[in-house]
Amino acid sequence: MIAPAELRHLASRRAAAGDARRELVADARSAFAADVRRDLQRRPRQLQAKYFYDALGSQLFEAICQLPWYRIPSAERALLEAHAEAIGGLLPELATIVELGCGSGAKLALLVEGMRRAGPMLVRLVDISATALELSARTLGRLPGVSVVGHRAPFGPGLRDAVTRRSAQGSMLVLFLGSNIGNFHPTSAIALLREVRDCLRPGDGFLLGADLVKPEEELLLAYGDPVGVTAAFNKSLLERINRELGGDFDLDAFDHVPRWNAERLRMESHLVSRRDQIVRVPLADLVLPLRAGESIWTESSYKYEPDGLVALARAAGLVCRGRWIEPSARFALALFAG
Ligand code: AVJ
Repeated sequence: MIAPAELRHLASRRAAAGDARRELVADARSAFAADVRRDLQRRPRQLQAKYFYDALGSQLFEAICQLPWYRIPSAERALLEAHAEAIGGLLPELATIVELGCGSGAKLALLVEGMRRAGPMLVRLVDISATALELSARTLGRLPGVSVVGHRAPFGPGLRDAVTRRSAQGSMLVLFLGSNIGNFHPTSAIALLREVRDCLRPGDGFLLGADLVKPEEELLLAYGDPVGVTAAFNKSLLERINRELGGDFDLDAFDHVPRWNAERLRMESHLVSRRDQIVRVPLADLVLPLRAGESIWTESSYKYEPDGLVALARAAGLVCRGRWIEPSARFALALFAG
């Protein structure tokens, strides 16, 4: 029997938790509104790629990963399958894995299985997408000896949170796979890698997966697939603005345009206005006139040369301990120590 006073106490605790959750959602929404307002008024007009990953965008990204033209996942999978044991051999005391940007969990499952470890493994997943955390936790939870903790946060704060809670025993491997590094301008990439380096103790490792420079026609297909999934992914950001911020973007009035920037070694995704138009986003307090041909730049995906990648990490104080390259799709995995 639960006493009425206790019931009231439980109910008020639940209400408090609900309030806290609603407050978090409201904070996230006003940060989204402020960023949308600022970034759409910049020249060139832009939006931040991190906002792609709501429930719809995360599912569309999973669909991109099934496309034959988007070869990052299969190339990385092949490398993980072939070299998990070697990577594990360089990390003999490994007890904790922290993954930044966890996606579906499939890659991490391959790595953990391929390492053939007997002992228990604690996996900490850092992602801003609740959908990605759920998918990943479900996949990894099936592996024997593996326990999973989710950290719903941006990479930097999530990593710090994961590291504060790490146990004194065993070493840690931080994963940043799938060419997630590609979304960062080199200056911010170095800043993020430095944050990772500052978390590493002797014996720890950092495994980075990055897409390499390749022929332009392959890149244009990877980021402008003929099925139209990448176009849908890109436009889903406008749909999110409509849904969450009351916007009136007409999705048919924009073309998805992928461009290769050969000078900066990056793919750029743009949404180009098909006509002169005025878009309203009331909850971002924004009235946006767009000319025909004017573009909203939604994403950069930097590509690296293998030596450039090692140099980038070096600039953040990381030392390369191993490097594996998939020669056909041109993708690299590199293991670093602090
Ligand atoms: C998840 C950032 C690695 O840039 O290749 C895929 C996202 N955008 N197709 C990438 C993406 C369009 C992807 N990353």
